[in-house]
Amino acid sequence: MADSIRFFLNDEVVSLSSVRPTETLLDFLRLKRRLTGTKEGCAEGDCGACTVLVGRLVDGALRYEGVNACIRFLGSLNATHVVTVEHLAAKDGKLHPVQQAMVDTHGSQCGFCTPGIVMSLYGLWLSNSAPSRADIEKALQGNLCRCTGYEPIVKAAEQVSAARPSTLFDPVEKIRTEVAAKLWSMRSDETIAISSEDGQMLVPGSVEKLLEILAAHPEATIVAGSTDVGLWVTKQMRELNPVVFINHLTDLQIVRADETGVFIGAGVTYSQAFKTLAAEIPALGPLLDRIGGEQVRNMGTIGGNIANGSPIGDTPPPLIALGATLTLRSVRGRRSIPLEDFFIEYGKQDRAADEIVDSLFIPRPPAASRFAVYKISKRRDEDISALCGAFSLTLDDSNSVTDIRIAFGGMAGTPKRARSVESALIGKPWSEETIAAARDAFDSDFQPLTDWRASAGYRQLTAKNLLTRFYLETTGDRQELVRFEAAE
Ligand code: FES
Ligand code: FES
Repeated sequence: MADSIRFFLNDEVVSLSSVRPTETLLDFLRLKRRLTGTKEGCAEGDCGACTVLVGRLVDGALRYEGVNACIRFLGSLNATHVVTVEHLAAKDGKLHPVQQAMVDTHGSQCGFCTPGIVMSLYGLWLSNSAPSRADIEKALQGNLCRCTGYEPIVKAAEQVSAARPSTLFDPVEKIRTEVAAKLWSMRSDETIAISSEDGQMLVPGSVEKLLEILAAHPEATIVAGSTDVGLWVTKQMRELNPVVFINHLTDLQIVRADETGVFIGAGVTYSQAFKTLAAEIPALGPLLDRIGGEQVRNMGTIGGNIANGSPIGDTPPPLIALGATLTLRSVRGRRSIPLEDFFIEYGKQDRAADEIVDSLFIPRPPAASRFAVYKISKRRDEDISALCGAFSLTLDDSNSVTDIRIAFGGMAGTPKRARSVESALIGKPWSEETIAAARDAFDSDFQPLTDWRASAGYRQLTAKNLLTRFYLETTGDRQELVRFEAAE
């Protein structure tokens, strides 16, 4: 077993043998390295003030992604390259073109958000030489600015991509080959275990070793993207011990599609899954784009979104509606269950303490089926659902419903199917009358709560209206939208 983690920080190799299991990258940068350009705003992955880039080897190539340092744990950084805003300017003080563009376009006022915005724009600059306006807006989704307004910032991104100088001087490009070689040498199938008075952190060398660790430590907290667990630490001040990091396990990061359906390893991030899912099931693309900001999507995993059992996770409703199967794995072997059966009750999932969520399989929907997912939240971007509804419909040649699966988040203590509504639709003509009659069945399927995101009445009425919307969208008669009842 190894007893230290190693990573690149800007242009130096860092080796740490004393790490608290829940020590965040942000605290390490600011408190231990005095790299105070990286700011703390919300400490929960919302504002982007703490954005840094993390480079990692993906299929042999070095890929840099913006992440939220405030909820990223040090233990997840072995064999990566962390790039902070201090690394951008040249040694003589000359600003990087991305920074200079922010100056030129007056993209900063109080400046608190600026380092994070610069890092998001820098991540875009590295990965996309000709970003569209939509690409720029997407890159900035996870960065909040209270003063400037976004137009000057978007102009900065446009300016720097229009007059793109040679990348030879660029601090990341300059050392890319050297960093890639170093990261290769840092990878190992040896498990890393670091103990401190605050507990133990483990970085298993393989999935098999992860399973052995869980068999020996069923009380361990598994951390993949840390977009949820990070908040247990920064907001709830929870002590976690031991913590097992799995974000580096490439065997859990396989995503592939074939004629039978789509296979997604539990460690696949939203960003990694996007291309395949948006191509195979187009309605999922816009949904994935509305999960967190780019930094959260670069960290958060679909497996984690399921494993945490949240009733308002965005991926379970569409995956349940699509008939997905979940595979769990332990030293005792693998087992597969329908995804909906995983969610037993609020806070309780069908996962033994020594099991991991291993993968997910989405069967390819029949060619003639229709599918839609609707996320309802107060803001379009970077918001948590008040409710999320998904519908998967198959009709026969006479326009009758042969199969329908409807699943909702935010309507109960778990993501849940609307089985009474489904029963009211199966075998019936897909018509306005059928929909009108089926709407009341929501009252027996769900008794939602009132909380600060939405009232129970709003949720119930919106769920009914989403069924009507799905009907209208599948029949093309959008004029019927005017018949919606008013929401409370
Ligand atoms: Fe707000 Fe990290 S401090 S996202
Ligand atoms: Fe003040 Fe963005 S410049 S928050």
